[in-house]
Amino acid sequence: MSKILITGGAGFIGSNFVRMLLLGSDHQLVNLDALTYAGNLENLADVERHPRYVFVRGDIADAAAMAKVFAEHRPEVVVHFAAESHVDRSVLDASAFVRTNLQGTQVLLDQSRAQQVRRFVHVSTDEVYGSLGAWGYFTEQTPIQPNSPYSASKAGSDLLVRAAVHTHHLDCVTTRCSNNYGPFQFPEKLIPLMIANALEGKKLPVYGDGKNVRDWIHVADHCEGIKKAMEHGAAGEVYNFGGDAERENLTVVKEILRLLGKGEDLIHYVKDRPGHDRRYAMDSSKARALLGWTPRHTFESGLRQTVEWYVANRAWWQRVRSGEYQAYYERLYGGR
Ligand code: NAD
Ligand code: TYD
Repeated sequence: MSKILITGGAGFIGSNFVRMLLLGSDHQLVNLDALTYAGNLENLADVERHPRYVFVRGDIADAAAMAKVFAEHRPEVVVHFAAESHVDRSVLDASAFVRTNLQGTQVLLDQSRAQQVRRFVHVSTDEVYGSLGAWGYFTEQTPIQPNSPYSASKAGSDLLVRAAVHTHHLDCVTTRCSNNYGPFQFPEKLIPLMIANALEGKKLPVYGDGKNVRDWIHVADHCEGIKKAMEHGAAGEVYNFGGDAERENLTVVKEILRLLGKGEDLIHYVKDRPGHDRRYAMDSSKARALLGWTPRHTFESGLRQTVEWYVANRAWWQRVRSGEYQAYYERLYGGR
């Protein structure tokens, strides 16, 4: 049993990871989250009273606050999810991305070193590799060539982690994963946004020609990969995770409409995202060979389950779509 500090555990992937470890391990968990627009404690309502779980509200970029959290809780392992995570928001304003993803990561690395944390797991993304043409896959050797302010801030955080390994010999493992989908994803990302809009009879905004390709992975498969990297990854290494499920956006959107029994007339082509990466596709052979990891969900069954989850949990996404989100939606899509 270890004491694990999980940052960003109230967000989409972090909350799925917290639940997985509470139900499937004997680790003690400290969930550290600032509760930004994307952080929602409701995501963990079913486990919030678990005896091996505690929540702490805090901003990872606040060094003094983090020094207190580390001194009080003395984590042995840190799993770092907390980030500003949405590309479109980074196009509108990158400042929070620089603060949280860069400064926040460095604060956590400094505290981990000061408090002699045994292992630091840094959760990153395939987007640091840039964009692919029609062929090929990202491997761990692919050069880092981020194109959006979001991916640039994540790439910078990966390099800060690399520097902590080389300069200070901190034991860090970096995971890079493709696009996640599943329960509790904030309905600003493609799949939950399209499901929620279709359920409300609203237009489904498809960027550009709809032929951009993403490699979709179920969040549970990603969480399993992070757990394996935490337990068996080698210090200083990077591991790629992908779902082997490349789909054009339009194919995904049409499948969602089919599953909901809605017509394709809801599809609305809008102006393309500036700097829109054309294709992502992951080569996960290193994680398969060295961590014994393999994704369990097919995209077809995972998407069906996800659509069912959003149908059954309408109150959850209607609540998170109120307030601040409404203003953001108007700002992003209003002119398109
Ligand atoms: P999310 O936006 O749903 O959650 C982010 C969480 O971080 C929220 O709970 C938020 O409150 C918290 N947070 C933000 N700023 C903070 C700060 N300054 N201090 C403390 N907490 C803060 O994001 P997600 O989709 O769950 O992604 C989690 C991680 O996984 C991110 O690092 C992201 O880059 C990475 N990732 C995401 C995907 C994906 O498809 N969603 C794919 C690969 C990697
Ligand atoms: P997104 O879920 O924002 O993830 P990322 O940009 O990190 O890959 O977008 C996935 C794909 O869907 C991407 O090619 C952009 C596209 N997209 C739309 O066409 N319309 C939308 O409203 C959104 C949010 C995304």
